[in-house]
Order: sequence, then C-alpha cells, then structure tokens
Amino acid sequence: ARLDVTETFHHISFPGHIHTQDSLNYALHFKFQDRDTVIATYPKSGTTWMQEVVTLVKNRGDPQLSKTVPNWARAPWLEQYYSEKVLGATQGPRIITTHLPYNLLASALQGSKAKVIYVARNPKDVVVSYYHFHKMAKFLPEPNSFDEFLDGFLEGTVSYGSWFDHVKGWTRQAEVLANVLYISYEEMWLDLRGSMEKISAFLQCPLVGEELTSSLRHCSFSSMRDNTMVNYTLVPQEIMDHSKGKFMRKGKIGDWRNTFTEDQICFFDTVYSQQMQGCPLTFLWE
Ligand code: PPS
Repeated sequence: ARLDVTETFHHISFPGHIHTQDSLNYALHFKFQDRDTVIATYPKSGTTWMQEVVTLVKNRGDPQLSKTVPNWARAPWLEQYYSEKVLGATQGPRIITTHLPYNLLASALQGSKAKVIYVARNPKDVVVSYYHFHKMAKFLPEPNSFDEFLDGFLEGTVSYGSWFDHVKGWTRQAEVLANVLYISYEEMWLDLRGSMEKISAFLQCPLVGEELTSSLRHCSFSSMRDNTMVNYTLVPQEIMDHSKGKFMRKGKIGDWRNTFTEDQICFFDTVYSQQMQGCPLTFLWE
C-alpha cells in the first residue's frame, strides 16, 4: 500500500506522511538563531550530500557523528512533523534542512544572520532522480510513466512545487545577501575539494590538512552509499521499498541523457527558457 496522502499548503503539494499543516506552519514562523546553518534545496538536488559536508565541516573532518547519527536527526527538515520536537530540544548551533521555497520562509528569515547554503542541480538530472525516487518512496504518488512525471515536474504540480520558482527564489537571495551561499551539485561534483573549501570558509570553519582530506573521503559518493546513516537503508520497507531502487542511485551529472527522448528534450528546453527568462544567473549546466 502507498502512503501518499497529500497535504496542500500555500498551493504546493507536500507528502502528508511526513508533513502536517501544523508542521508547515511551524516552519513559516520558525525563530532562526544566528548560529544556525540552513541547507535549502529542491528535492534530489544534493540535500543529503550537503548535510554530510556541513556535518563534516562542523566536526573538522571527524566522521564520528556522520557514522553514528542518521542525517535526518542531525540535520532535520524544518517542515516535517518531528521538527518542533527535535529542534526545540537541540542546544547550540543547529543544522537545519528545508525543501521549502524561499517565499514561504522569507518572513521567518527576515533580518536573520543564520547562514544559508542553497544547492541546485541540473533540473534534467533532478527530474530523473525524482522519478526514480517516486517509485521507491511510498509516501510519494506512483509516478507512472516518465513522460507523465515530466509534465507534472514542468507544471510544478509535483511535491514541493515548481523547480523554477524554487531556484529563482533562492538564488536571487544569494545574489543580494552575504549570509546566503549558492552552490551547485555540478560544482561539487567537478571540484569537491574547492567546494569544501568554499563552504568551510563561508561557515567560518576553514579546514586544514587532514581535516579536509578526511572530510573529502567521507562525503564521496562511495562512502556515502555505504554509510547506513545517510543511504536511507534504515528506513523500513513499508516507507521506502528498497527492492524498487536505491536512494544512492547513481550520483552522476548528465545522466538524464539516458532517459530523455528527443521530444522530451525539446519540450523541456522550451519550458525552461520561458520560465527562466529574466533570471540573471547562468548555471553550470547551461
Ligand atoms: S532528497 O530526497 O531530496 O533528500 O535527495 P537529495 O539528497 O537531494 O538527492 C539525492 C541525489 O543525490 C545523489 N547523491 C550524491 N551524488 C554525488 N555524490 C554524493 N556524495 C552524493 N550523495 C547523494 C544521490 O545519488 C541522488 O541522485 P541520483 O541521480 O538519483 O543518483
């Protein structure tokens, strides 16, 4: 049986299995602290990877926490049902994850000095990854064909809403605010060391020598694929059907080419250029 009840909040669909109106409202009125680190992403854009990077940076490359505490407990999602309980009980600097679009968090973040890291990924790779995730995650609707799923993604009717609005909203903040850093999945993939240096400098936690080497080792795709604290194999079969796929699926850039047909590329590119018109940024995948 699937667990895909939908919670609609501000015209966006959220999986009701992990969100309630109360938990979503809690996020909107959250009191960020200056020492918080916020990881903001559209799903399948490098969330888990960044949770691992930030955990390692904050622990100066010591993998102890990464190897013993699940990512959702050490970097909880602000909008999910357990958030108030977990975040209320955490003392000291917190790592907070969110898939919410910027406009929903704008007022909570207003004037906050919390450091925000926004990760975006080539939307063609995002939609392929998201499609596969829908097959295994029972709290998301059955995706049917890729073609149908792609329509929903481009219309913004999939869970967590429009990729375009998400990316435009958050990257605009990164351009104007010093406490918001934008980095892409592609940049991390092509230069993890440089990305790690950039992120650790931004968090005012620069890593040296073995701290950096150790961090790099522990957040490689192969380490994370084998780390039960981040590969989601701890999630019971009723919630994620591990026979339908792996959370740590491929971890590649440009893999969308193995899925998209010529027609789908054409349709995607048309919608992309309409939606991204007026967006001043050029992305690595363009
Ligand atoms: S979620 O469900 O929104 O939290 O998913 P998210 O973590 O954002 O995205 C999952 C995709 O990220 C890939 N991944 C990585 N790629 C490269 N290196 C590392 N270390 C890494 N960790 C996770 C993961 O494999 C998913 O992408 P796909 O394309 O499906 O493999």
